[in-house]
Amino acid sequence: MSDSLAILEPLGNKFRKIEVVKHLRTEELEIIKELGKKFSNNDIFFEIEGNSKLVLYLRVLDIRKFKESVNDLLRRYDLNSGDSVLSTLIANIESIGSYGIKGGKRIFVDYDKERKVSQRKSKILERGSFFYAKENSFLRNTNNISDQFLNKIIQGDSEGILKSFPSNCVDVIFTSPPYNFGLDYNRSEDGVNWNKYFDKLFSIFEECIRVLKFGGRIIVNIQPLFSDYIPSHHLISNFFIDKKLIWKGEIMWEKHNYNCKYTAWGSWKSPSNPYLKYTWEFLEIFCKGSLGKEGSKDHIDITGDEFKKWVYAKWDIAPERQMKKYGHPAMFPEELVRRTLKLFSYENDIVLDPFNGVGTTTLVAKKLGRRYIGIDVSKEYCNSAERRLMEVL
Ligand SMILES: C[S@@+](CC[C@H](N)C(=O)[O-])C[C@H]1O[C@@H](n2cnc3c(N)ncnc32)[C@H](O)[C@@H]1O
Repeated sequence: MSDSLAILEPLGNKFRKIEVVKHLRTEELEIIKELGKKFSNNDIFFEIEGNSKLVLYLRVLDIRKFKESVNDLLRRYDLNSGDSVLSTLIANIESIGSYGIKGGKRIFVDYDKERKVSQRKSKILERGSFFYAKENSFLRNTNNISDQFLNKIIQGDSEGILKSFPSNCVDVIFTSPPYNFGLDYNRSEDGVNWNKYFDKLFSIFEECIRVLKFGGRIIVNIQPLFSDYIPSHHLISNFFIDKKLIWKGEIMWEKHNYNCKYTAWGSWKSPSNPYLKYTWEFLEIFCKGSLGKEGSKDHIDITGDEFKKWVYAKWDIAPERQMKKYGHPAMFPEELVRRTLKLFSYENDIVLDPFNGVGTTTLVAKKLGRRYIGIDVSKEYCNSAERRLMEVL
């Protein structure tokens, strides 16, 4: 007789049904009866069809207790476990990979149900989603950007360059501004007074908001300067919120302990002032005017598997390892850009990076069939960015 490994859908959402098609010996029928007495009917129960099919209805099970009970009973009835219908049943139960665990028992149905909020939609309306972004004056029209800028690397100060762009002409901005850590950039000072830093950064971001299309996204990769107690990610988010953009969310870019190698404990072994360590950076995502972005279905290039993985907002990606090769101290890795662009933009969209460095954003945008504009103040970095683009056919 052959075994049926079919595991059927939960019945009425209450029990999971497992069938084993095999002739049942008299001893096995006795064992099943005894098992039925040992476990609550609310958790499991059996049905036997014509001595040739065993059906188990399964909701909750202490699998260890179940296996021990089966083994005891097989011994008592002097049956070999190898060819027993009960061994097949246990194998089938164990092959179920998705279950919850509570009090040492496996929960096979409804374990992943979200907590239900009654009248969820009307409650959201009552609370008022993104109330802070409601009374904006963003226009819905779109303007074309001149070919002079499109698919180009432009050297200069972003603030001035962006002023020559029309409003509402760019689909997505992805960027990582200088963090003001004191890094050795080629043409810009990194480590100025914080007020000066934010004044300049926000003047550039102001222009970014203007050039972004209605429904466009701006995604900023930033690491706060923990040693100065400057929550740059919050200050930048506050800026965009003040400017009435909608906060879409935040991605945690886990860099695999990259920043924890040094020993800075603050007050060692004392609560007086311990120093916290972080192994991640942030991606803050904002939308102009609307959470939804228009685009053709034919221009979607994210796969189902990628989508499923990447909407979990913690991304494990190793830091860029080729910074020496490109002579830049603060590049982000291509994978970070790849995920961001596939998740938040369509093919052929116009992607801008106003702090383009050696051009990781523009490189990946080109590879993914997006149009791109990269701006950086350093001539050398712009040259590198152009060289990298030339390697993409
Ligand atoms: C964190 S890096 C970006 C690196 C880039 N993501 C990459 O992978 O190459 C910041 C960049 O901003 C540039 N920068 C600083 N001030 C600027 C400004 N006012 N306008 C344009 N670029 C500027 C710096 O030269 C530096 O390359």
